Amino acid sequence: MENLQLRTFADYKKAYKKSIKDPEAFWDEVASTFTWQKKWDKTLEWDFKKPEVKWFQGGKLNITENCLDRHLDTLGNKTAIIWEPNDPDEESRYITYRQLFVKVSHFANVLKNNGIKKGDRVCLYMPMIPELAIAMLACARIGAVHSIVFAGFSSSAIAKRINDSDCKMLITANEVYRGSKKVNLKEMCDKALEQTPGVETVIVYRRTVEPTPMKEGRDKFWFDELQKAEKECPPEVMDAEDMLFILYTSGSTGKPKGMVHTVGGYLVGTTYSFQNVFQLEKDDVYWCTADIGWITGHSYIIYGPLASGATTVMFEGIPSYPDYGRFWDIVDKLKVTHFYTAPTAIRSLAKQPLSFVENHDLSSLKALGSVGEPINEEAWHWYNDNVGKGNCPVVDTWWQTETGAIMISPLAGITPTRPTFATLPLPGVQPVLMDNEGEEIPNTTEPVEGRLAIKFPWPSIARTIYGDHQRYKEVYFSTFENKYFTGDGAYRDATGNYRITGRVDDIVIVSGHNLGTAATENAIDEHENVVESAVVGFPHEVKGNALYAYVILYDKVEPSEELEKEIKDIVSQTLGPIAKPEKIQFVSGLPKTRSGKIMRRILRKIASNDTDNLGDTSTLLNPEIVDEILAEAKHD
Ligand code: PRX
Repeated sequence: MENLQLRTFADYKKAYKKSIKDPEAFWDEVASTFTWQKKWDKTLEWDFKKPEVKWFQGGKLNITENCLDRHLDTLGNKTAIIWEPNDPDEESRYITYRQLFVKVSHFANVLKNNGIKKGDRVCLYMPMIPELAIAMLACARIGAVHSIVFAGFSSSAIAKRINDSDCKMLITANEVYRGSKKVNLKEMCDKALEQTPGVETVIVYRRTVEPTPMKEGRDKFWFDELQKAEKECPPEVMDAEDMLFILYTSGSTGKPKGMVHTVGGYLVGTTYSFQNVFQLEKDDVYWCTADIGWITGHSYIIYGPLASGATTVMFEGIPSYPDYGRFWDIVDKLKVTHFYTAPTAIRSLAKQPLSFVENHDLSSLKALGSVGEPINEEAWHWYNDNVGKGNCPVVDTWWQTETGAIMISPLAGITPTRPTFATLPLPGVQPVLMDNEGEEIPNTTEPVEGRLAIKFPWPSIARTIYGDHQRYKEVYFSTFENKYFTGDGAYRDATGNYRITGRVDDIVIVSGHNLGTAATENAIDEHENVVESAVVGFPHEVKGNALYAYVILYDKVEPSEELEKEIKDIVSQTLGPIAKPEKIQFVSGLPKTRSGKIMRRILRKIASNDTDNLGDTSTLLNPEIVDEILAEAKHD
């Protein structure tokens, strides 16, 4: 396997220049280091107006051949995945590239035996166990499209996602360990399956020995199915632009968006970025603490690292179990060299006594990563000083489910870092800042702030929203002509370094999870006593942001703590606990414009306790409501 790593800052600058001057020649060269069954005929065809982006058309490949088969001769006995269980007393599992290849091929035949063909959608609702990686790669092996649903989501969220993409099969586990708790995933699935007529088969992996109720004819155990399956499975020949997976992300309406990623561009984008951002050496041990249910897990636990022949750690548990030293215990035990986590985890660990960090030997660490939300100055320094001991570059990586791969980030040890800054775009990425008039802010040496857009396609951009291309166009390509709009605001310093300032739309990042406020509002409105609600984000010390809900009750219904709890429960059941509002304020009305739109700007300010200047409220339909809300606002 050819190495794609840039080694010096001068290398980076040269590569960047080339990638802008001649993007096609640049990506041609990168793409040619992968295994293709047939070379592509056309590197890029694009039109952001339609919008349409196609990379490496005519090329034939299979991503699992790149993640597995091509390593067998040279890295067959190297550990591909180290699995660290929830309970530190249970044994870790080490899976070599050869073993992973065998397991993936074997399970791919289970999919085939159960009627799954190229193009079929398969939903995975699984804990962080190696079988999740095996199942996703098995889908890719036969050309089935995986749609992974984070195992913290509720049954109605699973059902919605299964139905949206018409999944034929669901793969799950009976139970999952999460810290000191056990969660019954199968029960959650059974409830979801009452609303999903399209699912023909459910494959159940037994993570625990508890008895698992199974539905005759529909539910099958993973191990029983393996017994019946052949071991060898040649990779399906895929077009570069064939679908690889669907991954749902929140939107500004209550409906999640099924982002579609395709085989060729995604492989090229994730692998190139992985190797350059993290700069692994041969025997390094890389650990990304994300869940595979999110894009970070897809791109930087599985596809990027495996395509690079790296050793990647999968952790089943949580940072606080059995105590707050668990992350550092694992780093010490596995001699982790590269550690990639979210600011919210850093902030919650920074609140604990430093002895949790100091009791472990972290000298194996070479680089640290951050992802998912802006990292504040304090968290950045705590991470750099106490975990990295000032010796490990901190790479603050900005990207999105939609971008598939890291877009703006330092390259570890190469790009000069600056606390809270994601710094510079990766080669091939052309960011621009847009002003309030929708004009591009020129690239000068003045520091500037604006909305972040990208003006040229990169290989791993999501190609559409599954089943709703019109929405894809509206959300990403209609704000600015001929540009992809990220939904984020950003600041650029005099030397061109970017700092992401946060979302500028109705999406709130809570503990690194991307939440649409509309989805929580819809869930709250389901409560029989609720007339209407408005949900906004507000800054939170550990979570980055949290949700604040303003709720109008029907006449004669008295606000109560019990009602608050019921509303939180309904959100938990409909969407999952992560979408639960931190604060609920019962109000008699919401500030509305004359056209009936809720003035969220005011609600955001009140929730954030930033009430000195609420701006002009005189144009509101009901200006008096603002004082009432202010008087009873919930501030700590
Ligand atoms: O607001 C940005 C924030 O997370 C959003 C994307 O969320 P999601 O699709 O769930 O993907 C998260 C993991 C890639 C972005 O629009 N975000 C992500 N990384 C950063 C960030 N904000 C600031 N700094 C980052 N490094």
